Amino acid sequence: MKNLQTKIVKEGIVLSESVLKVDSFLNHQVDPYLMKEMGETFANKFQSEGVTKVLTIESSGIAPGVMTSLSLHAPLIFARKRKSVTLTDELYTANVYSFTKKEENVISVSKKYLSPNDNVLIIDDFLANGQAALGLIKIIEEAGASLAGIGIVIEKAFQDGGKQLRDKGVRVESLARIKSLKNNIVHFVEEEVS
Ligand code: G4P
Ligand code: NA
Ligand code: NA
Repeated sequence: MKNLQTKIVKEGIVLSESVLKVDSFLNHQVDPYLMKEMGETFANKFQSEGVTKVLTIESSGIAPGVMTSLSLHAPLIFARKRKSVTLTDELYTANVYSFTKKEENVISVSKKYLSPNDNVLIIDDFLANGQAALGLIKIIEEAGASLAGIGIVIEKAFQDGGKQLRDKGVRVESLARIKSLKNNIVHFVEEEVS
């Protein structure tokens, strides 16, 4: 997505060869117009899939997730990372290990909000090693629901999450695919047309 690539080039800060900081529009401050366009773009890509629920993880997946859910006219569910005092329902859970942060989180979704009738689109802000997406897929499988696909705002194509998921036959659509962050320069994977 052109406007996203432009925003990354203008405002992204390369912190290391593997980490891109995008706090000005995605991970701290949110650009609502860009978010709306991203939601519409994901909705267009998955329009014909019969999506009944959009699923993400708190916190940075929520903004693109809600705009996608609005465009698809389907509710958004965000998996929780921490135990909630009000979340007393039966839960689907998955362990998600972050290679980036070297920590494990238990993510959970109430059994109330996913059922075997659901066809679920996963949305997330970043795709690195794919552990978050794999955790969400496990939750969808536990619920007996089906997976429509995965929409990612920024895929770091030099890490292996995208390959792992596509090798499993999952449809992964990323709005920006980064080939490299070497020498403090963002290089995108060349796309045909989008
Ligand atoms: P994985 O799920 O693909 O394996 O990713 P990983 O464990 O590496 O990611 C852990 C956290 O770091 C996630 O956020 C993810 O979005 C974020 N992340 C990974 N690589 C980058 C990067 O290059 N830049 C930025 N800005 N974030 C990155 P989280 O801990 O779930 O936090 P939240 O922002 O959703 O609250
Ligand atoms: Na995230
Ligand atoms: Na994040």
